[in-house]
Amino acid sequence: MCGIVGYIGLPEKTSQHGALDVLLEGLRRLEYRGYDSAGVATVASGTVSMRKKSGKLANLLSEIEAEPMTEASVGIGHTRWATHGAPNDLNAHPHLADGDKLAVIHNGIIENFAQLKAKLVSTGETFASETDTEVAAKLIAQHFTATGGDLTEAMRLAANQLEGAFTLLAVHADQPDRVVASRRNSPLVVGLGDGENFLGSDVSGFIDFTREAVELEQDQVVTITTDDVAIINFDGSPAEGKRFSVNWDAAAAEKGGFGTFMEKEIHDQPKAVEDTLLGRTDASGRLVLDELRIDPEELKNISKIIVLACGTSAYAGMVAKYAIEHWVRVPVEVELSHEFRYRDPIIDDSTLIVSLSQSGETMDTLMAVRYAKEQGARTLAICNTNGSTIPRESDAVLYTHAGPEIAVASTKAFLAQITASYLLGLYMAQLRGKLFQGEIDDILADLHKIPGKIQEVLDGGEQIRELAREMAQAPSVLFLGRHVGYPVAMEGALKLKEIAYIHAEGFAAGELKHGPIALIDQGQPVFVVVPSPHGRDSLHAKVVSNIQEVRARGAKTITVAEAGDADVVDYSEQVFYVPETQPLLMPLLTTVPLQIFACALAAEKGYDVDQPRNLAKSVTVE
Ligand code: F6R
Repeated sequence: MCGIVGYIGLPEKTSQHGALDVLLEGLRRLEYRGYDSAGVATVASGTVSMRKKSGKLANLLSEIEAEPMTEASVGIGHTRWATHGAPNDLNAHPHLADGDKLAVIHNGIIENFAQLKAKLVSTGETFASETDTEVAAKLIAQHFTATGGDLTEAMRLAANQLEGAFTLLAVHADQPDRVVASRRNSPLVVGLGDGENFLGSDVSGFIDFTREAVELEQDQVVTITTDDVAIINFDGSPAEGKRFSVNWDAAAAEKGGFGTFMEKEIHDQPKAVEDTLLGRTDASGRLVLDELRIDPEELKNISKIIVLACGTSAYAGMVAKYAIEHWVRVPVEVELSHEFRYRDPIIDDSTLIVSLSQSGETMDTLMAVRYAKEQGARTLAICNTNGSTIPRESDAVLYTHAGPEIAVASTKAFLAQITASYLLGLYMAQLRGKLFQGEIDDILADLHKIPGKIQEVLDGGEQIRELAREMAQAPSVLFLGRHVGYPVAMEGALKLKEIAYIHAEGFAAGELKHGPIALIDQGQPVFVVVPSPHGRDSLHAKVVSNIQEVRARGAKTITVAEAGDADVVDYSEQVFYVPETQPLLMPLLTTVPLQIFACALAAEKGYDVDQPRNLAKSVTVE
């Protein structure tokens, strides 16, 4: 939440791209993190210039066009997801202090801001906004004066007074040769250039300019100048960052000819699954998960797995439960991260915590992982973002290779998470001797066929888009599923809620008769995710009965079924067929029509598919 960029470059660099160009390009790429307001501040000729505007980045661009800023080689930029204070111009970042010579931007929540503010007010300070950020700006300003003009030290001293989660970036007119930042529980990466350096909430903030980056640890201050990156801990001791190279380029974060990022990312899914499967076996076909860093002996002795995640990632976790329990015969619990640590869970060193997070920065999940570690559990992250906090703080990581996901609604990361969970399950089954090698080989071979099958579903997308256009006025849509189809139903409902603002619910089909069937009225649209007729017979037959039950009560039934499943035809207004695969692997196919449906319906209603209201990607507040 909130996108942050910082830049400093030598004049020969900034003659190619001025600081403002770099900042605005970074904000364009980071806008998915929040779009309540945007702002920039640059330093030139001993003064700070600032422009900020509520609403999307486009509003800021118009503001700058109307009132151009002077050329500069240093600056900071921010795109906001509001926490403290309404999303208006006044509360937009940057915030100024020290006679408008200091500009500060912030991501996160400063939990002790009220106490700090009261103290500052009692000493005569006045505030222009309702934000917690302005409190940090005032503190940095006070320390700047007290230290005789040392912005790094001022930032460090202020950071030590703050509680909660924050990434802060500051520039000062009296020390224009640097951008200084601090972080606690909130993301920040450094981009390394030649004669220029960058800061970003994530690497997309500077991907147009460099793919070389440095990870920061918790509680650190970083100072970037044109030729140096200096890191210190909050206690003042020197520190080293970990260097890494970004393995995707700027083009991967563009729309690639599609109208929206979401459409593009839905179409990226064959590759996301393929890349996530890539290089996971040795010459003899045995799974080798190199990044795991947990001793195989320890994995053999795990007695329970708890999957922690939120939102779409939690639905991927539910799919993982069905597969891992079936293949590994180890109990798997799935829990929303924000509920987990408040219920006194039973964890010990034979518990494996598997966290699922696209961003690797979701605060609820990070806090739950930290809590589990404190209780002695082993922690493994399944994550899509290299260098992010959750994998860094976990004992092990299994990266998904979906590439950058920009649309707020998650699509390709979901399929990649499911794929990685299957790999983990198969790997544990291999280690613990729960499946024969031939069985593992067969499942892997079927997994490798999935990308081509997803492509088939995508190729038939027009049928779904047509239905979405017809259904644009539906006030409510229900989704039913059983077994692995149940999390798919919930994911279908979530997609529709979050981008089309339609009331939608996903239910376990068997639960219907225990209450929700009362919702069925004449014409109520109900999507049903039908299990394979080749799986457990009873499962398929039961779902067909569920379709009949809702249809008998007037529902308009739309089914997503396996190719050749004739049993659903008589009871479905429309059937979307997906290619045949193993029953446990079906979510990789049955999810896709539901994503296409939500995306097309939101577009039909004229909504901003990539940046739905009230939401932001990367939820870095609890
Ligand atoms: C929904 C969506 C969210 C995220 C959730 C967790 O489309 O994107 O529900 O899945 O906020 O985010 P990550 O996976 O980054 O931890």
